[in-house]
Amino acid sequence: MCPPEHFTVEYAINPWMDTEVAVDADLALKQWDTLRNTLVDLGHLVHVLDARPGLPDMVYSANGAFSVDGTVYGARFKYPQRADEAAAHRAFYESPWRYHAPIQVNEGEGDFAYLPGAYGGIVLAGYGFRTDPAAHAEAQEVLGRPVISLKLVDPAFYHLDTALAALDDRHVTYYPGAFSPASQRVLAQLFPDALLADREDAEAFGLNLVSDGRHVILNTEAAGMGRKVRDAGYLPIHVNLSELKRGGGSVKCAVAELRA
Ligand code: ARG
Repeated sequence: MCPPEHFTVEYAINPWMDTEVAVDADLALKQWDTLRNTLVDLGHLVHVLDARPGLPDMVYSANGAFSVDGTVYGARFKYPQRADEAAAHRAFYESPWRYHAPIQVNEGEGDFAYLPGAYGGIVLAGYGFRTDPAAHAEAQEVLGRPVISLKLVDPAFYHLDTALAALDDRHVTYYPGAFSPASQRVLAQLFPDALLADREDAEAFGLNLVSDGRHVILNTEAAGMGRKVRDAGYLPIHVNLSELKRGGGSVKCAVAELRA
């Protein structure tokens, strides 16, 4: 995680960002701290990356890389405003991880998810707004896992992690409307038992969740999604991330998961 010490909305690279509305910097830090404490209280180890001035989106640390079994596929950001974040993440991963610098544009866990218990371990990968589909093939070569390409079609859900989440090692939840009809068929074939979310869930950033397989941490606004995950047997924990939503992100965007 990376604290929102320099978080602002000073440019707009997704439809959620409004440069006219000021961010409450103190509140953003408090909310971020609550998220970090929630993870720590659940027994998770959280490493903190230093925030850098001039990189207001660095709080969305999930975009900096994608790791699978100790191998790290580095990020290369689409927009120049975020380009320098990649080096900060790279410095964190360089040892003892096996870090691979990418050639293709990709935004790390923003567009990649890993399901270790599905089909022997598969990667789901989004494209359409940020990550170049060529990065999917590159990730497959780096990680040695099948990568399933999924096309995102709604600009409000511009990263895979705004539209789909792993609930545990082999179960996913997603909002079908964020995907092309063909990609919806792919998801239905691979995950016939998926927990389906609706547009309201997705707009509340309810799919931008972090799950440890038992506890599901999600935005407070996503009350409906909380009920759905509870009915599916998980324990929802709501955290208010109203300020981070102004940048177009929530829980998942703020947490890069380390798969050692
Ligand atoms: N403002 C950031 C951007 O548009 C938000 C990134 C959200 N992160 C995520 N994993 N979806 O790039």
